[in-house]
Amino acid sequence: MPSLMSQLSPCITNMIRLDHTHVLTAFHQYEVGASDRLRKGLADNVCLALEIHTQLEEEIFYPAMRAVADNEVLRKSTPEHDEMRGLISRLRNMPVNDASFDDTFFELMRHVMHHVADEETQLLPAAERLIPDQLHELGARMTRRRLELAGPRAPELASSIARSMSPGSIVAAGSALLAGAYLLTRNKYGDRLAAGRSRFTRA
Ligand SMILES: [Fe+2]
Ligand SMILES: [Fe+2]
Repeated sequence: MPSLMSQLSPCITNMIRLDHTHVLTAFHQYEVGASDRLRKGLADNVCLALEIHTQLEEEIFYPAMRAVADNEVLRKSTPEHDEMRGLISRLRNMPVNDASFDDTFFELMRHVMHHVADEETQLLPAAERLIPDQLHELGARMTRRRLELAGPRAPELASSIARSMSPGSIVAAGSALLAGAYLLTRNKYGDRLAAGRSRFTRA
């Protein structure tokens, strides 16, 4: 019998989509003319959200997919994460007033957007077709692991969110770390959307 946690948990594909949305939202708020504090806050927020998201995918989502599929997108997924980690490391070790800070951030944005497009148009629909019965249990595992990974980094998360706030803007990237809890409240709605998408892709 499925555990209560897995029954309440959203499916893993919707959790991944929500993580992506938060990071893309933060990307769209980054402007070259913004203050050093705001740009550094957004960059720190994106880096932290990506570090946790990529680890969750590598530990939980990709292995589940490799058990049932083998394709180019899946094979290049972890090497692409490694490229992101390289850019994240450069950003973390670079003063925000360095002449190449903005370009490094935009390079990370290009990598992430390309990677997210592949995941959202190929891997997530494949998961919904191939392992529909596992999606909630995998979502529950991802929620538990997210809390383990995010807990020790809560001060870092709070600091980056505070610095990335600007009047009139809503920073969502950091709250990706809390997506598991948020998704619990939209579980039924999100799953209806996923079911609709799944029917659409089968047609
Ligand atoms: Fe990924
Ligand atoms: Fe992803």
